Amino acid sequence: MQSISVQSAQGNYDIHVGDALLQRVGATIAQKMPKARVAMLVVDQAVAHTWAREVEASLAAAGLRVVTHVVHASEDNKSTAQVENLWQCMLAQRVQRGDVLCAMGGGIVGDMAAFAAGTYMRGIATVMIPTTLLAMVDAAIGGKSAVNLAMPSPALDTSFQSGGGQGLPQISRQYLAKNMAGIICAPAWVVSDVRTLSTLSTREFRCGLAECFKHALLADEPMLGWLQTHSQGLRAMDPARLIELVHRSACVKAAIVSRDEREQGERAHLNLGHTFAHAIESMLHEQVHHGEAVSMGLVAMAAASQAAGWWPEANFFHISKRLADLELPIKLPCAVDRVQLQNAMKRDKKGQSGAVRLVLLKGVGCPGVLDAASEQVINAGLDAIGA
Ligand SMILES: NC(=O)c1ccc[n+]([C@@H]2O[C@H](COP(=O)([O-])OP(=O)(O)OC[C@H]3O[C@@H](n4cnc5c(N)ncnc54)[C@H](O)[C@@H]3O)[C@@H](O)[C@H]2O)c1
Ligand SMILES: [Zn+2]
Repeated sequence: MQSISVQSAQGNYDIHVGDALLQRVGATIAQKMPKARVAMLVVDQAVAHTWAREVEASLAAAGLRVVTHVVHASEDNKSTAQVENLWQCMLAQRVQRGDVLCAMGGGIVGDMAAFAAGTYMRGIATVMIPTTLLAMVDAAIGGKSAVNLAMPSPALDTSFQSGGGQGLPQISRQYLAKNMAGIICAPAWVVSDVRTLSTLSTREFRCGLAECFKHALLADEPMLGWLQTHSQGLRAMDPARLIELVHRSACVKAAIVSRDEREQGERAHLNLGHTFAHAIESMLHEQVHHGEAVSMGLVAMAAASQAAGWWPEANFFHISKRLADLELPIKLPCAVDRVQLQNAMKRDKKGQSGAVRLVLLKGVGCPGVLDAASEQVINAGLDAIGA
């Protein structure tokens, strides 16, 4: 087992990465939180009848009363309605301040459950048990949790109002304002058991690899090289390679959030490629998953870094080739209106007053923020992904 320590103003916590950790969850809770009597296990439907059984058994064996609450992972369910359901369930089950909530699943269930736990009775202890690669290396680390809010129309998108609204899909459709209500609340502990990745789809696994690749770009050349060298072993889901992948990648995020928990500066670097990615996702959410959008976003970021004069040309080809080697997309899958993409980038919550703020690279391991990216820099990024 590998351990990583994360510093937090609310109390430091550990991330454990290994391949037989689920059956130890109960004993560790009994040791770390001796006052806990009830364990709420909020679990992703995809693992409720498989991996969750091991956690339930270990919690019960440690003398905890286990209440299992199953949630279907969809962005629609990352909602205040699901949080309300969960609060009501905790209330009915007499969950007290000293009890514990285990949030088990991908980032969707993890975010919703951690938000409910962090607000119920002003916060009960949360154990994160991520079961997707993305959640292990990203969502479960850093204490951020949030739910989406529904909004009646794509607010502020002027192209929607001025471009002959009649012909456009009707505004009655609900749009999701992603992660609009949230908190930063450190978990008690993060348990990443890489065996759970064996049931994950290849597509979701690759999505996680895109975030690992982002972390490698933020870290150093050796980590990028490691990803390339071990791409075969990773594809074969070799447990030792997976543990090393999750450990290396989680270390990058853990180090950044330890230095800047509340995103005063450096934590923003984790948005590398994400302003492009969020714009792509907002337009192609039915076809493109987040990690795939991140992959294209990183290609666009590399081209934009070059256009801004931050990074020499050779790196762009290097990045695209390595992402393609990991079987990640490097071009948009279909034609997309460039003006709408640009508008979506301006709307991204990371942008300040309409200006597009981009995290770019001066080199591997050298990110920086360009506060108001020029049209030329943005267009270089969009050109690179075939927009
Ligand atoms: N809090 C943060 O800091 C943070 C950071 C990054 C992303 N996120 C959030 O995370 C979410 C995305 O997370 P995700 O990529 O894990 O997606 P997800 O939660 O949608 O999970 C992907 C799919 O895999 C299934 N699944 C989960 N574990 C499985 C397993 N072991 N075997 C088989 N299937 C399994 C899920 O049911 C789902 O269908 C987004 O909502 C995003 O906003 C949060
Ligand atoms: Zn991401």
